Order: sequence, then structure tokens, then C-alpha cells
Amino acid sequence: MSEALPGFFRLRSFACLASTNETAKELAAAGAPEGTLVTAAEQSAGRGRYGRSWASPPGNLYASLLLRPNADPAAAAQLGFAAALAVAEAAQQVFPPGAPVSLKWPNDVLVGGAKAAGILLESRGGDAGAVAWLVIGIGVNLASAPLDTPYPATCLAAWGAEVAPADFLPICAGRLLAWYEAWRQAGFAPVRAAWLGRAHPMGERLRVRLAGEELEGRFAGLDADGRLLLEGREGRQPIAAAEVFPAAP
Ligand code: BTN
Repeated sequence: MSEALPGFFRLRSFACLASTNETAKELAAAGAPEGTLVTAAEQSAGRGRYGRSWASPPGNLYASLLLRPNADPAAAAQLGFAAALAVAEAAQQVFPPGAPVSLKWPNDVLVGGAKAAGILLESRGGDAGAVAWLVIGIGVNLASAPLDTPYPATCLAAWGAEVAPADFLPICAGRLLAWYEAWRQAGFAPVRAAWLGRAHPMGERLRVRLAGEELEGRFAGLDADGRLLLEGREGRQPIAAAEVFPAAP
């Protein structure tokens, strides 16, 4: 039986949507309250980061949460780390102990080093620099993973966890609410510490693709705002937006 969704959430479930993020954004613009949670059993035009499409057959989780944090866009983006952490913790709960769940900057959840979940953040500016709303789109490969990705992909079922979206959603939502509350009370520090506890090992060699250039270096953690710290030939560099891959050995 599914766990109950905490009262904070207002669930809007659909059989099929183009993209749960698009619907959540429309609801946000129409004044929907914080906690609105849009899910679809499948998406016909699921979207990933960098304008990629996100394969969205039935059996996986597609959810978008509307938040109205009283925060500027950079601070609101820290909630992407909270969402990745929540998915990782939920995955850990449905796996046997010791399953190799980890996090890759900024918001990817890996199992056995392959991507099992991604997060797409979208926000709209409001008054006085704060975002009017933030939509956190969460895609979790529960039953299947796409084959045609520029990175290795996997699903939870491939690692022995057979879990339906309706059962995974409340676990994940409960963890996300807990991290949202921690962030509201104490800021990014507790989220950052927990994220680092599940992230790439310090010193791991990374290849970082920025607009128009590619860097290599070693993972040196996150700064206080969530930027990736890359230790390279020219010293330690904070990186705000990029795509990260493991460097060739
Ligand atoms: C990524 O590229 O890593 C982010 C993928 C985000 C996919 C989710 S699925 C639910 C929500 N709706 C979308 O269209 N995208 C996000």
C-alpha cells in the first residue's frame, strides 16, 4: 500500500501530459498554491536539461512540484540539490542496504555510476529580486531507462527495486519536504553537507563542459552557494552552470 502524501502537497495527477513542468508552470502562473504537485503516468514531450528530451514511457516517475520560496534565483536553485538528495534517499529506502546510490553535480542521481534520475528547475522572477515561483521537475527511471543518452543511464528495477510511481512518489515527496523545511530554517548549509555526503568522492577527475569550452580537473566540493569547485591547472575554480562527466582514466 502507498504511503500517504504529507498534507503540504496538493496532488494533481494525469494519465498523460506533454510535460509535468509545463502544466506546473501554467498552474503557477494562474496562482496555484505552493505544494501543488503535478504527476503524469507518461509524458509526450518530457524535457531534460540543455533542451534535451526526457524519455517518458509509463512505469517511471514524472513529477513537478511548485514552490514559492521567498528567495532570489540563485538561492532558489539550491533546492535542486534538495530534490536530488530526496530522490537519492528515497531510492536508498527501496533498495537493499549498500546499493550504490550517489549524486553528481548539480542534480543527477546515479545508481552504479549511471544516471537514474534528473531534475529540471524552472522559475519566474517576481518582486524585489525574489522568484515568484519555482517548479522542480523530477524524473526517476523506476522501470526502464533510455538507451540513446549521451551518458550511461539505468533504472531502479535493473538494481532489484521493483517500485511503482505511486509508491515511490510519497517517499520522495516526504524527503523533499523535510529538506525544504531544513533549507527554510537553516539555509543551504545542511542541504550542502548532506549532498556532499552522497556525492562524487573528493578528488575525482571530472570533465566539465561549459558553453564553448571543456575543462578537466578534480572535484573539490561545493562552495557555500552550490557552485562546483574544480581544482585544475589554474587553481580552484567555481563553476555555476555546466555539464559534468567523469574524466577518461
Ligand atoms: C535532466 O536532464 O537531468 C532533467 C530531467 C528532468 C525530467 C523531469 S520528468 C518530470 C518533469 N517534466 C519534464 O518535462 N521534465 C521533468
